Amino acid sequence: MAAERDTAKPEVRVVEDPAALAPAAADEWRARALAAVAASGRFAVALSGGSTPRAVYALLADPAAPYRDALPWARTHVFFGDERAVPPDHPQSNYGMARDALLASVALPPENVHRIRGEDEPEAAARAYEDALRAFFGGAPRFDLLLLGMGADGHTASLFPGSPALEEPSHLVVAAPAPAPGPPRITLTLRALQAAARVVFLVSGAAKAPALARALSGASGAGALPAGRVRPTDGSVLWLVDRAAAP
Ligand code: 6PG
Repeated sequence: MAAERDTAKPEVRVVEDPAALAPAAADEWRARALAAVAASGRFAVALSGGSTPRAVYALLADPAAPYRDALPWARTHVFFGDERAVPPDHPQSNYGMARDALLASVALPPENVHRIRGEDEPEAAARAYEDALRAFFGGAPRFDLLLLGMGADGHTASLFPGSPALEEPSHLVVAAPAPAPGPPRITLTLRALQAAARVVFLVSGAAKAPALARALSGASGAGALPAGRVRPTDGSVLWLVDRAAAP
């Protein structure tokens, strides 16, 4: 595992309340999408599961909001930071949530959606997803935008505190256990998450304040919380947090 250098102090933007998180994140998505397409002709974004990101997806899909019709969907490629080992129509599927909140409502070519096959055996799904990432990016996945949430325990994607997946030295995607009683997970590893150009964390609620303070403390290595260890090797991190979660 490459040393986790504190390449840049993370940027923290505090918004008043949970409702303000979605437009702040949608503004960031729009800025990154337009810049990426102007620079490279495409926008590669990785989605997170969870309730906080879902509000962002719904806003991006809302025809009354200033996003859907301003975004380059035909040049956008959607990936996932993690998935539960369930079929796409299962209520716990991250892909299913994103499809219902966003992907089915915008002019995104179906072949531009690169989901993790949660219906397959987790190890096989992880291997297949890693192959797909390497084929698309020619190596580690350099997402123009990587959306992540954080649990109250400091987990992000499906990298939970103490998980052996955190110390994975070479794979980009692994099968990982999740706290009972949930299904197993398939998750991008720190190596993959840290290849992103821009990471945006979405954190809301007082319950996450202790973990957020720890994640922002600068601690690194095995003693740090998973979310605090996502430090892009050549990119930046923005923490979008509401006042209740802010340190
Ligand atoms: C998932 C996400 C997970 C999520 C956190 C926070 O698959 O659910 O990868 O890491 O971001 O659990 O979720 P909330 O935003 O719902 O609190």
